[in-house]
Amino acid sequence: MAPIPIKDKIFNVGVVDWNIRDFHGYSTYKGTTYNAYLVMDDKITLFDTVKKPFKSDLLHHIRAITDPQNIDYLVVNHVEMDHSGCVPEIIEAVRPQKVFCSAMAKKALEAHYGSRDWPLEVVQNGQEISLGQRTVRFLETRMLHWPDSMFSYLPQDKLLISSDAFGQHWATSETFDDQVPLSELLRHAAKYYANILLPYSPLVQKLLAAVTEIKLDIDMIAPDHGIIWRSDPKAILDAYDTWSLQKAQRKALVIYDTMWQSTEKMAHAVASGLAEEGVAYKVLNLKHNHRSDILTEVLDSKALIFGSPTLNNGMLPTMADILCYMKGLKPMGKIGSAFGSYGWSGEAVKDMVRWMEEMKIEVVEPPVRVQYVPNHEALAQCVELGRRVGRAVKERTA
Ligand code: FEO
Repeated sequence: MAPIPIKDKIFNVGVVDWNIRDFHGYSTYKGTTYNAYLVMDDKITLFDTVKKPFKSDLLHHIRAITDPQNIDYLVVNHVEMDHSGCVPEIIEAVRPQKVFCSAMAKKALEAHYGSRDWPLEVVQNGQEISLGQRTVRFLETRMLHWPDSMFSYLPQDKLLISSDAFGQHWATSETFDDQVPLSELLRHAAKYYANILLPYSPLVQKLLAAVTEIKLDIDMIAPDHGIIWRSDPKAILDAYDTWSLQKAQRKALVIYDTMWQSTEKMAHAVASGLAEEGVAYKVLNLKHNHRSDILTEVLDSKALIFGSPTLNNGMLPTMADILCYMKGLKPMGKIGSAFGSYGWSGEAVKDMVRWMEEMKIEVVEPPVRVQYVPNHEALAQCVELGRRVGRAVKERTA
């Protein structure tokens, strides 16, 4: 990728990572990008860097515009290593006059890279600096999604450099929202939200309210991952409002794994009960659906119905994986139930219900357990479970 002009004298000098397929447990099956922004003003300023293996690509992109040693300021909006990985090398190569970051970022930089003789300058929420023709206002966004996170807002350009927020893990040759299908873009953005920002939804609500209150005039949102929102930044702001309110649709998920297809038969019977009630549903076998894709579906679903047979006095490991992952992401306002077959002890259903209670997923119908293989009556019980959960979904999403 060559540097991409995104505004007058502002360039994306970041890189496309076409090959990454796992981002600490998130399936990045379409790769990602690490965006970094170079502003050519009286004080030439670089906003963020990229993941360490891409250091030479970053420098190559900067050199296409200016000698890296001409850079005056570096802004570290976020210390996670996909953005700060090159900070030591960039500081070494550039020798910037100042490195701006939040107070928490200063601590995090020192924890990651040791205490060095870097010209770190801590900025406060709302503080402005001048680059010459334009100013930068820093907005602390603590815990969105790390303690150090902040945004940089350039009022003269109406540009919000938003760090991880509003991003997507999606490697493309395109740069802007009007160059890709909006539905696919929002799908990637939803996956990103569900897997990274969901637990901080109350903070996202506060942030959106603050952005409205201080009347930020924004016509472009440039995140550190994926596509830049230039045609319709309101689309992603509105989507974040919906996602952070965790507004559910009339939709249910049947999430299951199976040993000898007994629990699978039960899953399909539960789904047919949901179908009878006219509720949208998806049947997600944990062997074939990645946890991060399941969380994307969880984002707008009202009901979660979990199915696992009992193995060695517990649930299948795939079910433990998704429940553990989901618990950390703190979905809110869900209802559901559980089901599963067993041979002689049958603890899986009880264990799944315990996890659901810990996640405050309201168990609206008693779970169904079946010994060995479900017969017609047992499958009828599963259909009824689906019907009842479906009715509850309709009542709660009216
Ligand atoms: Fe893209 Fe939190 O790093």
